[in-house]
Order: sequence, then structure tokens, then C-alpha cells
Amino acid sequence: MLRAGVIGVGSIGRHHVRIYKQLDEVELAAIADIDEARRSALARRYRVAAYADYEEMLTGEKLDVVSIAVPTELHRDVALAAITRGVHVLVEKPIAASVQQADELIHAAAARGLALTVGHVERFNPAVVELKRRLAAGELGHVFQVHARRLSPFPTYIRDVGVVMDLATHELDIMRYLLGSEAERIFAETERNLHKRYEDMLSGIIRFENGIVGVLDINWLTPTKVRELRITGERGMFLVDYLKQDLYFYENSEAPSRWDAMALFRGVGEGNVIKLHLNRVEPLEAEIKAFLDAAAGRAQPVVTGMDAIRALALVQLLIASAEAGQVLRVADEFERRGWAATLGMAA
Ligand SMILES: NC(=O)c1ccc[n+]([C@@H]2O[C@H](COP(=O)([O-])OP(=O)(O)OC[C@H]3O[C@@H](n4cnc5c(N)ncnc54)[C@H](O)[C@@H]3O)[C@@H](O)[C@H]2O)c1
Repeated sequence: MLRAGVIGVGSIGRHHVRIYKQLDEVELAAIADIDEARRSALARRYRVAAYADYEEMLTGEKLDVVSIAVPTELHRDVALAAITRGVHVLVEKPIAASVQQADELIHAAAARGLALTVGHVERFNPAVVELKRRLAAGELGHVFQVHARRLSPFPTYIRDVGVVMDLATHELDIMRYLLGSEAERIFAETERNLHKRYEDMLSGIIRFENGIVGVLDINWLTPTKVRELRITGERGMFLVDYLKQDLYFYENSEAPSRWDAMALFRGVGEGNVIKLHLNRVEPLEAEIKAFLDAAAGRAQPVVTGMDAIRALALVQLLIASAEAGQVLRVADEFERRGWAATLGMAA
């Protein structure tokens, strides 16, 4: 039985705690948080040891696996502390505050043969899993565009990052995953309206190497939560509602029904709208199970450190593009910043 800990039991960390407690294949041994009230309440509720100091927990508890859900600027220090003690790590997204810090984590985990995975939780959303399966089967034919909208009310508690780091990381990972392609060029406009230090609105465009265009519409300025992805191709459009875990297919009534006739693609008309039946699961539970499988050596991590560092690198380029007011060629920027080798993209 694996022994688990959770470091940082705030809004997302408390769900890690609940899920470890629910799962049979793992024993939740301890939690750590500097907030006394938070950790005591959870320790009482779930009957686990609680520490103010995560180093003390890591030294005293002989953990096999740990979830790290502290603010992003602390991910590197906390994850390195766990890795150097031989503990497998699931760190919340984004992997770290910078590409260099993320690289340190990836190397440290690899050097010790430890599993390192990152909380890109939408990978485990059943609507995304099913969409990936259908795209891989070629159900959309040639794909033109993927469009992600992730809109939220203003989160008063996030101080250390802006909306691009906080929310665009999810969509960048999902776009890379669904399209199976890397970004070629990037342009973004950002704005800071309410946040004291960082941007709270992003409008971005990405041209992927396989020619597909990604559109990002992301903000903390909308009085309702929207989490949607549309992907349009010759045969129609898939729509993912991440929140409801729904997947719809809007059929192009004019698409040829036979694959060999696809070259005859001529028009677009309204066809049937199909809501696909999916079995709902809690994505975070699926993410944690995949982490435990990786830690136990039963499987490779679903989200690798390399996936996470690439999403983070693109986040940084979106911010840089907006600051410069320029389209950035991704390969040139990675080269210029000395990231190309780190990101496995050297020419
Ligand atoms: N995957 C997702 O969908 C998702 C959702 C929300 C947040 N996150 C990520 O999770 C991380 C945490 O976000 P949150 O919204 O839960 O933040 P939060 O502020 O609600 O929680 C962070 C917790 O970490 C604790 N903490 C701070 N410094 C600490 C230290 N040195 N040692 C131990 N505990 C410490 C805080 O007291 C707090 O309880 C962020 O990186 C965020 O990007 C991911």
C-alpha cells in the first residue's frame, strides 16, 4: 500500500486529500499547510497527521507519493524537497514558475527514477478523452481550427500569477494533446483590468505546425464560468463543455459520407446535432489514479514533465508576444531563450 501526503490544502489541495482518502490502493498518511485553521480542520475530518512544515512531514512520514498544491511560485522548492527524499510527485499545474525551474524538477525526478506528473486535469475529463479517440479515428476529416474559451469571475485569492499562467496552461496542454502538433507561431493581446500585478484577459492565436489554428479566449472578468472547446473540421464541429463533461457533434450535412470522397469537400450546411453519451468520472480522481499507477511502475505518467514544460513555455511566449505586440516564431524564441534543448526541440 502506497503512503501519500498532500502539501498545500487550499482550494484544490483539499480535493486531493478527499480523493486519497477514498481510494483503496493508497493510505493518506499526512498533510502539510502553513495555515493552521485549514490543516487542523482537514486533519480532524480525515483523521490524518498534520504538519505546518512540509520538510518535517517529508522527513518524518516515509511517504511514497505526494500531491503538491501550494501556490505556483513555490512548486519548484516543494517538489524538489520531495524528489530529493525519493518521493513520487504530482504537482499542480503549472509545473513551476519558470521553464528553468520546471527543467530542474524534470531532471531531478529522472535522475532518481521517480514519477513526476502535473495536474493538467482536463486530460482526464471524459469529454476530452472521447474527443481525442474520435479525432484519432479521423472522424472530423481535415481539421481547420480549435477554439478554447475559459472565462471566470475574478479570483481574489490568486496573487502570484496572472490568468495566462493560471488558465491558459490548461488549454495549451489540451490543444497540443488533441492536435498532436507543436506550436509554430503565436500572437496574443493581454489586458490588466482588475488584478494588481498581472494580466486578467488574454486573446491569443496559435498556428500549429500541422497548419491548424488555435484560438484562446481566456479571462477572469466574466460573471459566469465558461469552459468550452470547439474543434472544426471538414465533417463538422465537436463541442466540449468541460464543466458538464458533455461532448456534442454538429454534423456538416454537406460533407461526403465516404472517406475516399473527402477530396470533394465543397460546402458546409447544418446537419444533425448529436450529444454523445459518456460515463462521467471525477477528472481529479482519474488523474490521481494515473499518478498512483505511474508511481507503482504499472504505467507511464499520462501527463509527463515534458508535456507540462511545453505548456509552460507557450504560456511564457503568449505573455511575451502581448508585451512586445509581435507575432513570435516559437522555434526562434526557444532558441533565443536557450530553451530549445530543454524542450527537446533543438534543430
Ligand atoms: N488543476 C486545477 O484545475 C487547479 C485548480 C486550482 C488550482 N490549481 C493550482 O494549484 C495550486 C494551488 O492553487 P489553489 O487555488 O489551491 O491555492 P490556495 O491558495 O487555495 O491554496 C494553497 C495552499 O497552500 C498553502 N501554502 C502556502 N505556502 C505553503 C508552504 N510553504 N507550505 C505548505 N503550505 C503552503 C496555503 O496556506 C494554502 O492553503 C496553484 O499552482 C494552482 O495553479 C490547479
